[in-house]
Amino acid sequence: RIMPIIAPSILAADFSNLIKDIEMVNQSEAEWFHLDVMDGVFVPNISYGMPVIKAIDDHTDKVMDVHLMIVQPERYIKDFKEVGADVLTVHYEACTHLHRTIQAIKDEGMKAGVALNPHTPVHLLEDIIHDLDLLLIMSVNPGFGGQKFIQNTYEKITQAKNLIERKNASTLIEIDGGVGLGNAAQLSQLGADVLVAGSSVFQSNDPMGTISELLRS
Ligand code: DX5
Ligand code: ZN
Repeated sequence: RIMPIIAPSILAADFSNLIKDIEMVNQSEAEWFHLDVMDGVFVPNISYGMPVIKAIDDHTDKVMDVHLMIVQPERYIKDFKEVGADVLTVHYEACTHLHRTIQAIKDEGMKAGVALNPHTPVHLLEDIIHDLDLLLIMSVNPGFGGQKFIQNTYEKITQAKNLIERKNASTLIEIDGGVGLGNAAQLSQLGADVLVAGSSVFQSNDPMGTISELLRS
């Protein structure tokens, strides 16, 4: 059985004592850091940007998984590379020239991901899936941590898995929103490779233990 990659979302961390949560993740079995960038336009919330990402990158060797919930993300590809992004994910709904944006991310030496809102069907990626290192399926409406997992996501994982196999692609499937001990096992059984976990990790009494449990669930 293949264990998923756990990507704690720092959005749920204690921003007044960020170093404590960074060090917790460093010592944990999580392989990735998930970093949510929100612009108040694409989503109804504003989170944090480049300086915070750079500060985290300066204190970790984990993979920096940057999830852009911003309009026209192509404007900032270089900037996110400079602050340490290893994987850069843009939203399907925010890109008119998605193919060009994906190539630009790869040209900077980063892995390229596309995120789908809950209402966006997987089949729209038919002609780009072979170029994607990552397919992020939103299992809540983007903008906030701590929301309820949308059940239709299970079916989308199966559709994504089928599309990736049919096109002979090596795209990783990442699930983001409402992931916790109650659904992690089913998500990885269906084919999720990366599980983002915000509140389920940082609001637990034992965040490091929860990361290990998510990994083995
Ligand atoms: C939501 C973000 C998520 C969020 C997940 O817009 O993309 O990454 O931080 O938080 P939880 O795990 O609490 O749903
Ligand atoms: Zn996210």
